[in-house]
Amino acid sequence: MKLMSRSEYEEWTAKTRDARMDWWRKARFGMFVHFGLYSQAGRHEWMQTQDNCPVEEYEKLAETFNPKPGAPREWAALAKKAGMKYMVLTTRHHEGFSLWDSKVNPYNSVNYGPKRDIVREFVDACREYDLKIGFYSSLMDWHHPDSWRAAFDSEARARFQKYIFDLNTELLTQYGKIDILWFDVAAPMEHWESWNSLEMNQKLRALQPDIIINNRSRLPEDFGTPEEHIRPEGGDWEACMTFNGISWGYVDSKQAAKYSYNAQQIIRMLNRCAAGGGNLLLNIGPAPDGSVPEEAVEPLTTVGEWLALNGKAVYGKMTRIGRDVAGGNGVCGCSCSGNFVYLWNWIWPSGGTMAIGGYKKSPKAIRFLHDGTPVDFEHKGHRIILKNLPEECPAPVAGITVLEMEFDGPPEYCFASYYPQLHGGREITTERL
Ligand code: GLC
Repeated sequence: MKLMSRSEYEEWTAKTRDARMDWWRKARFGMFVHFGLYSQAGRHEWMQTQDNCPVEEYEKLAETFNPKPGAPREWAALAKKAGMKYMVLTTRHHEGFSLWDSKVNPYNSVNYGPKRDIVREFVDACREYDLKIGFYSSLMDWHHPDSWRAAFDSEARARFQKYIFDLNTELLTQYGKIDILWFDVAAPMEHWESWNSLEMNQKLRALQPDIIINNRSRLPEDFGTPEEHIRPEGGDWEACMTFNGISWGYVDSKQAAKYSYNAQQIIRMLNRCAAGGGNLLLNIGPAPDGSVPEEAVEPLTTVGEWLALNGKAVYGKMTRIGRDVAGGNGVCGCSCSGNFVYLWNWIWPSGGTMAIGGYKKSPKAIRFLHDGTPVDFEHKGHRIILKNLPEECPAPVAGITVLEMEFDGPPEYCFASYYPQLHGGREITTERL
């Protein structure tokens, strides 16, 4: 194939990005799955290096690795129940063990342990539950002898670049249509040229023309990957989060539970992603036998029930919330889509009323998103004053009520528009009633 220069490639990927990313931008919510030999130890997915475990000692885990049949179906069933739209599986983590029938890497789950192709089971499960399919693929490798030599030995680097390309070629040719290629940790080399990423990614895209690639092969590609924090970036971005702030891989559920997110915390993460125009990739680290970690089940099930009622505030094409697009107040978050503003009430107001400032135009209707119940309101100056609200929070799930405000056109909003001191000299309107 004729290879593009970096500028030609970036121009081409930019031109084709909207079509490729359309489903991903609307999907909003995905499940990350970290499963590998490390899952047996329950001591973090980096235990091989953090414990300085010699390779020949660590390799013994390959013999005892034995996920139960059907484990990937359990992951997919929970992802579906949680309202997630895609999944990303660690097909080969830094430990270098391939969870698929690889001819390139004999250190794999068909030659060792379960003697099964886990990636095949994962792909089948995703398709059964109508979930888009992502493959995580580590560039760093603690098992292949050329991985560290590649830093200073050009022949080792060439061998290792071919190894990585061949691994990903297997993944993108053996399992039908794959939707996301999620690279991780381009180390030891720190430059795209050292990884031959420009050639590799062009050739991999040729195998799967619609595939979406993240920014971790030392090229920006299709989306950014803020990790363990949610901060909107320019362009497309996906915040990847562990379930407990400690480990991507399995850790003892009983101990992990106290650190793990509840449904309300996950919903708040979804608000920040929907408001910021990004996605949430929330991780589970399955247990040694492949079971879903028990501390994730109830929160994700509840989030799914909540999304079934309030998904319009989350999925689909959302407007990025700037200070002058739409806003909530200190106790309610906000997301916006076209002529609709969604108020996510973290704290339900007492006294039957609440006000939302900054809206110069009146909505034409306000309703509970979960059941369409109309809400009384009046518009005075730049304030929307909601009235006759129930004293008790009306949310049927998770105690978080979303109010849908419908406008005739884009809502005209200016944060705290009555208070010029908050506008830093920008155009200031001080009109009041
Ligand atoms: C970091 C960790 C890696 C994990 C990844 C997920 O790169 O090193 O273990 O898989 O984050 O984003």
